[in-house]
Amino acid sequence: MPNSGKFIVFEGLDGCGKTTQLEFLRERLASMCRPARVRKVFITREPSDSVPGLICRGISKKTIFVNRETEALLFAADRCEHLQNEVLPQLGRGNHVLCDRYYFSNFAYQSPETPMDTLLQYNAAPMELLRADMTIFIDVPPEECERRRAAERATEEKWDNVERAKGIREQYMAAFERLRETETVLVVNGMGDPKDIFESCWVKLNRMLLSEEDYR
Ligand code: TYD
Repeated sequence: MPNSGKFIVFEGLDGCGKTTQLEFLRERLASMCRPARVRKVFITREPSDSVPGLICRGISKKTIFVNRETEALLFAADRCEHLQNEVLPQLGRGNHVLCDRYYFSNFAYQSPETPMDTLLQYNAAPMELLRADMTIFIDVPPEECERRRAAERATEEKWDNVERAKGIREQYMAAFERLRETETVLVVNGMGDPKDIFESCWVKLNRMLLSEEDYR
């Protein structure tokens, strides 16, 4: 049984391109792993497919309405389900897990309506169980995210406007600053060719995180 795989989280505003980067990383890690493939690469996301996760998707698509405390708690509850049912078992098998959003999304999207101290309490269990080996924040200006989203999507999500997106970016930065001693966060400029953005992430990931052991 190999040691636990790495847990790498992607964060950013809707439309920042994190899903593309996550896919590039999946391909690269899978190609680096030895042919015997002791380690596999597992991709997942939050909100997950758990019962609270499905409700969270309804909240973000504005088909379900709850008060803000409940909203914050539901996203944290989904995280607990997701960790126990999917992420921890995969890591335990030695697989790498790449996750689209984790608790920093809660800190950014549900604050300041719910204060950060409260959100930290709601996320106490996930934070104790599993911190990301690295969180990669794909930093794209809110105006550009909005432009991309308008081009791609027909439906309007709950946080679908530039002013709100600016606030979410600020909350991300505040959370990174507040947790800088315990979290490893890489803020990457998300403007430019997606392949170039990935290569700059890869150089840093390799230097800071990965070793021979991870390619087993
Ligand atoms: P998103 O990654 O955009 O999924 P999809 O591609 O299916 O739209 O995530 C859905 C939304 O949920 C996104 O706008 C961010 C929001 N969200 C929170 O508000 N809090 C959280 O804790 C998480 C994980 C996501």
